[in-house]
Amino acid sequence: MPACPAPNAPSADLLSRLAALLGPAGLLTEQSDVEPFCTDWRALYHGRAAAVLRPANTAELAQAVALCARDGVAMVPQGGNTSMVGGATPDASGRAVVICLSRMNRVRRIDPVDLTMEVEAGVTLKAAQDAAREAGLMLPLSISSEGSAQIGGVLATNAGGNNTVRYGNARELVLGLEAVLPDGQVFHGLRRLRKDNTGYALRQLFVGSEGTLGIISTAILQLQPQPRAVEAALCALADPAAALALFAAFRAQDPALIQAFEYMSGAGMDLVTTLVPGASLPLSEPAPAYVLVELATPRANADLRTALEDVLGAALEDGTVSDAVIAESEGQRLALWKLREEHAEAQRRAGASIKNDVSVPVSHVPDLIARASAACVALVPGIRPAPFGHIGDGNIHFNLVQPEGMDPAAFLAMDHRIMDTVADIVRDLDGSFSAEHGVGRLKPYMMPDWRGGAELATMRRIKEAIDPGCVMNPGAVFPSDEQPDAPA
Ligand code: MLT
Ligand code: ZN
Repeated sequence: MPACPAPNAPSADLLSRLAALLGPAGLLTEQSDVEPFCTDWRALYHGRAAAVLRPANTAELAQAVALCARDGVAMVPQGGNTSMVGGATPDASGRAVVICLSRMNRVRRIDPVDLTMEVEAGVTLKAAQDAAREAGLMLPLSISSEGSAQIGGVLATNAGGNNTVRYGNARELVLGLEAVLPDGQVFHGLRRLRKDNTGYALRQLFVGSEGTLGIISTAILQLQPQPRAVEAALCALADPAAALALFAAFRAQDPALIQAFEYMSGAGMDLVTTLVPGASLPLSEPAPAYVLVELATPRANADLRTALEDVLGAALEDGTVSDAVIAESEGQRLALWKLREEHAEAQRRAGASIKNDVSVPVSHVPDLIARASAACVALVPGIRPAPFGHIGDGNIHFNLVQPEGMDPAAFLAMDHRIMDTVADIVRDLDGSFSAEHGVGRLKPYMMPDWRGGAELATMRRIKEAIDPGCVMNPGAVFPSDEQPDAPA
């Protein structure tokens, strides 16, 4: 990318214009107020910012962006601050402003005939799911951080999560989008059409762009009918190959019933049950591997319990599954999900961890887990592989917890060596080094190697065309000599 002009610190004049525009609730400049927005959820990145802008609507957002862009001030969009890759943390210069979307938090409209929802960027994913449910519908996107993650960030990172196996990633749910461009113009694409072939699908450019092309302000999302029946089971297995065999059995029965098919390693489950209060294993003994399978259907009169029991019964009989528990109530179903969703939190409590959010063709998952575990243990004796994730779509969080007693900083200092070791195996298995968390500030250094040639060159040209001043989320996605790619 041609050298970007160094961003400017906001002048006193700019800050007073922003104060007049956004009012006292919309502008934070006291460092004690700003600081919470400058560290990421994993505490890998500790930046500084001159101010936090909290616009209340798209008009305010657009004007604030225009003012900052005119003065060459860098902007870091931030939703729920749940990025796993430092995608929303300002750098250490203290010159950037964070733009926080939390005040744009209205579910504007739910249309039960069109099966759509119009939702502002600052609505949490959980609040959007709840609103859809209250209207008798379902927003079929679910991630572990959904209580904090906001729609804008979820779309900007093209989040995947637990239901991708059935409904696709966030991208597949976006019918319409409104976004503020880096110069403050508004891209008005809030259409709710299933068919709309009118040139480039610009809305999709913003989905997955990680805030480097503009700030998503509102979206129209595709909803689904609410399932009439949901059944979930936790299964104990010997290894990932058995998990895949179980997946094949459920798919052979009826692929349309599978709403989630999640893998957990014995090591990861042990961390959850020992470190997360209230989490306990509802099986008689621990196993080397687990699957949480969820079936759901909107069909009336479907006997989902029998469907689940049929496959599990056969799997228990042929030894694919060694033990299983079926949730007998909504409370038990949620308790099973807690065991899965607390994996990231348990690993955080266990010390420093290195996350490899990778994907491979589903058939290669067992190979990936075996080879990457062996390679990492050889590289760092005592390292604790705790792979888990969305095995039904091939996305494994090949996470590694630091050896017990090791200095966390010394472990994190090895992040590139460990990530590259895993990535080499992922490449050999035709996978991707970045499945659903995005590139953020953690992985831009991998981009030239993985997305070099015409692919990265085209991305750079799109970035230059839309954000020639490099003011939008600098440091994310694109490698650059000026911008450090390692945690600071
Ligand atoms: C999850 O599925 O829980 C995550 O994406 C979290 C992680 O990688 O730690
Ligand atoms: Zn995930």
